[in-house]
Amino acid sequence: MLQKNKLYLKTFGCAQNESDSERVKTYYQDKGYKLVDDWKKADLVVINSCVIRESAENRVYGLIDEIRKAENSKSKKKKIILTGCLVPISKKTIKGVDEMMPIKKISFKVEALRDKNRAALITISSGCNNYCSYCIVPYSRGKEISRKMDDILKEVDEVIKKGFKEVVLIGQNVNSYGADFGEKSIVSMGKKRFLSVFPRLLEKVAKKDLKKVSFISSNPWDFSDELINVIAKYPNIDRLLHLPFQSGDDEILKRMNRGYNKKEYLDLVKRIRKEIPEVRFSTDIIIGFPGEDEKAFQNTVDVCKKVGFEIAYLNKYSPRRGTVSAKLYQDDIPMGEKKRRWNILNNLVNQKKK
Ligand code: 5AD
Ligand code: SF4
Repeated sequence: MLQKNKLYLKTFGCAQNESDSERVKTYYQDKGYKLVDDWKKADLVVINSCVIRESAENRVYGLIDEIRKAENSKSKKKKIILTGCLVPISKKTIKGVDEMMPIKKISFKVEALRDKNRAALITISSGCNNYCSYCIVPYSRGKEISRKMDDILKEVDEVIKKGFKEVVLIGQNVNSYGADFGEKSIVSMGKKRFLSVFPRLLEKVAKKDLKKVSFISSNPWDFSDELINVIAKYPNIDRLLHLPFQSGDDEILKRMNRGYNKKEYLDLVKRIRKEIPEVRFSTDIIIGFPGEDEKAFQNTVDVCKKVGFEIAYLNKYSPRRGTVSAKLYQDDIPMGEKKRRWNILNNLVNQKKK
């Protein structure tokens, strides 16, 4: 019998990449590949890359190097295809890579090969228009494009038919889902924005036969009352809300172009708690953004104390090429200091819960 070609797929980064990778698997299976769990056994290695911080990007180069170094004159050369967030921002083919494949090539029509042991991942939008000054996503994933509501609802029905009881709706910023459909604009937290239809989508999904509906990520500025009301109304919507605040200091938030201040964030948390008393929060924080002095850091500590997050994802600031903050500000907080602050927040939020 003809032996099948073997594929090893490595996924770096966020839930969006994991979701894309589930379609990449089907794409190659349809081409006759069999999935293996070790690159050493593979003929083809596909790397779905992440570039959010330098450390993530370096892990991608590290894997390519490791594979190429292990090859010798006797072994058959593996084919390496790079996809994901590193591809659009690379001017040339990365050393050691045979093919750079834009992830857009894998259409949403390709059915995802899902992990039965976890919630079904469903991408609702990709890309981002917010331009937080530190963030490379608008460059790597482009502007925000929302999938059609009917396509998303059809996919939800399909996973329910397959036996899934939980879904996660995924987008770089789910709250602005459908803003590109061009309905009327609103002003929220000082910024002009388009009206999101996310609350409507969420309600339609929550009405289906599902035990749990989660979504990532939301941003504070367009977390509307309408969205709070939908969550309150449907007990199957996850009570653990991921609400990144990045920094508790107004000056730093301004430099980050986040469009809200500390008080507005804390007021939002209060508003949500009032309508949904059983709500819990998780968050993302950037540590050591340029200009973050002790006073600024203490504002971040203060937000942590006031909100009592269940989990905080702590990210040391990493300047990313092409972003506004990398151009305007020097990365002036020494690594040792970033580590010290990381430990303080980790002890305060994450260790306490263990
Ligand atoms: N440096 C450090 N952390 C970053 N994040 C995004 N860009 C950077 C950067 N340049 C973090 C933010 C975001 C999460 C996905 O990654 O906290 O919410
Ligand atoms: Fe990484 Fe951002 Fe791409 Fe996700 S969208 S994989 S976090 S760079």
